[in-house]
Amino acid sequence: MKRDKILKQYEASGDNLLAILHDIQDASAEHYLDDASLRAAADYLKLPYSFVYGVASFYTMYSLEPRGKNLIRICQSPPCHLLGASTISRELMRLLGIGFGATTPDKLFTLEMTSCLGVCGVAPAMMVNGRVYGNLTRERIGGIIEDLRRVK
Ligand code: FES
Repeated sequence: MKRDKILKQYEASGDNLLAILHDIQDASAEHYLDDASLRAAADYLKLPYSFVYGVASFYTMYSLEPRGKNLIRICQSPPCHLLGASTISRELMRLLGIGFGATTPDKLFTLEMTSCLGVCGVAPAMMVNGRVYGNLTRERIGGIIEDLRRVK
């Protein structure tokens, strides 16, 4: 959805800033907030650009840098941690050849940590572009990454 269309869905109130930034970022193919989007949100909400920039840079859920086509977020909260999230994380780093917070050179994957995804019953879990994968094992991770690579 275009940025202007997203803005018009909301009342021009500062209370809507977080939701607007979320929607704009979700609509970005590179999963990030570019400078033009921050300025558009500031103008629409009649907020100082510096304030909007400060909010976007404060919360880890927002990125001011382009990210990979597949944004992988692995849960590191205690239930997932206890059930093997560290092993899954190591396997992801090995398969992708990158660390957390990084993007593969082909721009296909970005790896991030997150707190609870709300699906502790299927821990360990991760989210890729909004889709949840649970009951992860080292073996399953390889197949998931292969499938994601195939959908170019
Ligand atoms: S702790 Fe990982 S989904 Fe809740």
